[in-house]
Amino acid sequence: MNYKLVYFLPFLFLLAGCATKSNSPINSNDDLITSSDVHSYSNVNEIRTVHLHLDLDVNFENKTVYGVARHKMSKHNVDTAIFDVKKLDISRVTLGNKEEVETDFVLGEEDEILGRPLSVKITEETEYINIYYQTTEETEAIDWLPAELTSGKKFPFMYTQGQAILTRSWIPLQDTPLNRITYSADVKVPSQLLAVMSASNPTKANNEGKYHFEMEQRIPAYLIAIAVGNITYTPLGKNSGVYSEPELAQQCAYEFVDLPKMIRAAESLYGAYRWEQFDMIILPYSFPFGGMENPRLTFANPTLLAGDRSMVAVVAHELAHSWSGNLVTNATWDDFWLNEGFTVYFETRIMEKIYGKEVSDIHNVIQRQELDIALSDIENSEHPEDTHLKLHLEERNPDEGMTDIAYTKGAYFLRTIESVVGRKKFDAFLRNYFDAHAFETINTEGFVAYLNKELFEPNDITFNTDEWIYQPGIPENCVTFHSERLERMNTLAEKINQGEAIFIGKDAKMKRDDHTTQEWQAFIRGLSTDLKPSDLKKIDDQLHFSSESNAALKSEWFQLAIKVGYTEIRPDMEAHLTKIGRRWFIEGIYQALKDSKNPDDLAWAKTVFAKAKNNYHFVSKSTIQEILYPKGT
Ligand code: BES
Ligand code: ZN
Repeated sequence: MNYKLVYFLPFLFLLAGCATKSNSPINSNDDLITSSDVHSYSNVNEIRTVHLHLDLDVNFENKTVYGVARHKMSKHNVDTAIFDVKKLDISRVTLGNKEEVETDFVLGEEDEILGRPLSVKITEETEYINIYYQTTEETEAIDWLPAELTSGKKFPFMYTQGQAILTRSWIPLQDTPLNRITYSADVKVPSQLLAVMSASNPTKANNEGKYHFEMEQRIPAYLIAIAVGNITYTPLGKNSGVYSEPELAQQCAYEFVDLPKMIRAAESLYGAYRWEQFDMIILPYSFPFGGMENPRLTFANPTLLAGDRSMVAVVAHELAHSWSGNLVTNATWDDFWLNEGFTVYFETRIMEKIYGKEVSDIHNVIQRQELDIALSDIENSEHPEDTHLKLHLEERNPDEGMTDIAYTKGAYFLRTIESVVGRKKFDAFLRNYFDAHAFETINTEGFVAYLNKELFEPNDITFNTDEWIYQPGIPENCVTFHSERLERMNTLAEKINQGEAIFIGKDAKMKRDDHTTQEWQAFIRGLSTDLKPSDLKKIDDQLHFSSESNAALKSEWFQLAIKVGYTEIRPDMEAHLTKIGRRWFIEGIYQALKDSKNPDDLAWAKTVFAKAKNNYHFVSKSTIQEILYPKGT
């Protein structure tokens, strides 16, 4: 029996014991959690952190965070508290608040995905556990950037990414969304630099480099985050604004001008914004996501600064997480669709409210195209069962659940329910759902029970919920959307596929600015891979996708270019791959290079990756590494 199995046995046992209990919420500091999470070693069922105070020293010279994690624990009757740690050095553990006494601790065996359990000896009286630690070179959450990789090129930068299970690599804690905690922090950084967190934030740097933070609403561990750099603040509305390097402040103010309107639109849909402040921070290009919904301070990639507000759906998305995800949180990573599917649904509702139905329909259609590609990829993969909304990620990295299934199948499930019950009833239901479960976690089964009780039964509706959640593919009753504007782009692409010249007559002066990013996405997706490199070259001469378009279009265009064998754009593609670390904008390109029929492409990809990988965060680096150098081959 391998050690993993031995380790998981007690959990399986626990699971069986809890199978009939619902995922009951925690209402007071003493309440314990009754469900379990296969991605955490912590014994939150017996003892849990209620408040965490962090003392942190962020040292750029050593690329190390020196910290003390001071956990205030719930009442309990156990002699061991178990925390999650990964690639951290733990130097000592003490018990007590004002007076601290050393206590024994043991680190368990290292698991490649989960890290190690840190078991701390306590007594029934123990209220405070203080873990003294430092991060290491292998810490996966933190990206340390030299000045060259920032916009200003004068100061270094650092930020963390916690979701899904990386927080344990920079803070020793119970790293499971089952538990919610408040937190505070005292952080020391080099003077001149500003520190910001997913908490109450300063707006100006001070000479001492010392900052205090409070997060008074209870949040899951994956939402604790910090960024440090040469950062200024630009207010946008009464409770919103954007942090960025000073060089980007003006662009940010232009791009995100609609943020206050989005907050009002979201509140009018599903109730009050409960986190007081909604700010964003534009990080360096290495940030592996478009956005990350850290509460009070969404972390975002500078590719959002497209110059034409074409990427603002990401802002709507992260804002929507202030309800779906941050207020009502997926209990485990197997229920990830509860976070992302609801958020994509909510995001398009915000977009519709502000920009109209034509724009939101365009987003729905584009998403459906992506979903269909993802479906066929997953059906042909090692885990075809990953097309179910409810996942089973035991012994796998929860990152593998981050597919279009959770996002888009999840959103289409909700859109289909909406089309059956009508928008009015569905909106009332959702608003009550967020209120009834505010600051709680919920699993898929808990949601289904609530859905049946509050929506389907009172309205006498039968719905194929189980098929949507526990079966593969997309059920027959899925709603569809149409967009004339996208269909026109498809027709244009089809003409090129048929060999017709299109840049003639009234179209001789066609420019990229004539259409939106989403329209061009549809155009590129409509082009045939049977085209010749010279056909793509003609399009490029007219529209400059390779050299001048935004990162989203470049990513689509380069994937087509690889399939067509249009290799002369390699310098532009290399520039894109070395500059941008947002996984979604590089992963497809590396995958296409790997799958290419041109044997040269894989070798070229490896050379580029060797140069580019230091500009990527661990999350993107490890994904690309696995594409180019799969384990076990
Ligand atoms: N919470 C996610 C990012 C995430 C998911 C990080 C899972 C780690 C593990 C975030 O809200 C997100 O979905 N970002 C998308 C935005 C898009 C769908 C509009 C992104 O970065 O592309
Ligand atoms: Zn999201």
